[in-house]
Amino acid sequence: MSAPRDRPVSVLGLGAMGRALAGALLAAGHPTTVWNRSPGPAVALAEAGADVAGSAAEATAAGELVVVCLLDDDVTRRVLEQAAPGLAGRTVVNLTNGTPEQARRLARWLVAQGARPVDGGIMAVPSMIGEPGAFVLYSGAQDAFLDWRDVLASFGDAHWLGTDPGQAAVHDLALLAAMYGMFGGFLHATAMIRAAGGPAGGFAPMATGWLTAMLGELPALAAAVDSGEHDADGSSLRMQAASFGNLLTASRDMGVDGGLMRPIRDLLDEAVARGHGDDGLSALVGLLRGGLVRPA
Ligand SMILES: NC(=O)c1ccc[n+]([C@@H]2O[C@H](COP(=O)([O-])OP(=O)(O)OC[C@H]3O[C@@H](n4cnc5c(N)ncnc54)[C@H](OP(=O)(O)O)[C@@H]3O)[C@@H](O)[C@H]2O)c1
Repeated sequence: MSAPRDRPVSVLGLGAMGRALAGALLAAGHPTTVWNRSPGPAVALAEAGADVAGSAAEATAAGELVVVCLLDDDVTRRVLEQAAPGLAGRTVVNLTNGTPEQARRLARWLVAQGARPVDGGIMAVPSMIGEPGAFVLYSGAQDAFLDWRDVLASFGDAHWLGTDPGQAAVHDLALLAAMYGMFGGFLHATAMIRAAGGPAGGFAPMATGWLTAMLGELPALAAAVDSGEHDADGSSLRMQAASFGNLLTASRDMGVDGGLMRPIRDLLDEAVARGHGDDGLSALVGLLRGGLVRPA
């Protein structure tokens, strides 16, 4: 069963992301009530057809589906507590970024209020909401997700990750780790290029080509992590540790801080010291998880 277009929805939180979510619901034709702590952000949404609630409790009373997008878990909990008497029977989809444990704790509390909890992780920036490429991760109350899946699809592709409410946050934060690793590497690279007198703009296409080629390695890397067969495939950790030393030495010589890169060098060096010089990059996952990959 999925929700028909005329069932009322509410959005709590009209920051940059909440405004985008509410706008997507309105654009898809859903009767939408919005609430925000400060009144300013609701004005444009009211002009676009939203009803504006005077309190979080009023907004929750108006929507069978309550979408929450606030600053953090602490704010979310306090706002929902204000609305607690009206939560029974509601589906509450929390799209506020948080940890898996925060998601599980909030889900238990929502169940105690008689609500159906779904936690979500938005893999998009506000301008991408409702556009191709945006996707949102969900986990928690499966019946509630299935009931509202078509409405949630207004935001982007809806990915279901199971009934453990923490799974959306696990995957959200893991994807952010991958993203920040890439951006951090690119920022360091750009600092080197600028220090050497080159324009970052000229370097970007070269970096894009290189990173795109390296993205093709991810499935094989993942398979090696799962199997524990850390085949170097011609790029041993010993070789990589030696090259990485050059990266840091050259950065220092050019006056570029190596703070973003040093932890990777340390990990490579430790893996080699523990007898993994002939292995491939996938062996590092064992070290990251705190285990001794192989007795030295
Ligand atoms: N923006 C992105 O690119 C992006 C992408 C993915 C996920 N997210 C996640 O989406 C969530 C919202 O992000 P955002 O970009 O919309 O942030 P934002 O623009 O900073 O908005 C924060 C929201 O939280 C509200 N708020 C803050 N403190 C409050 C308090 N003490 N009581 C009540 N309301 C309070 C703000 O209300 P006021 O307007 O009254 O201050 C506003 O509605 C975050 O968890 C973020 O990690 C954002």
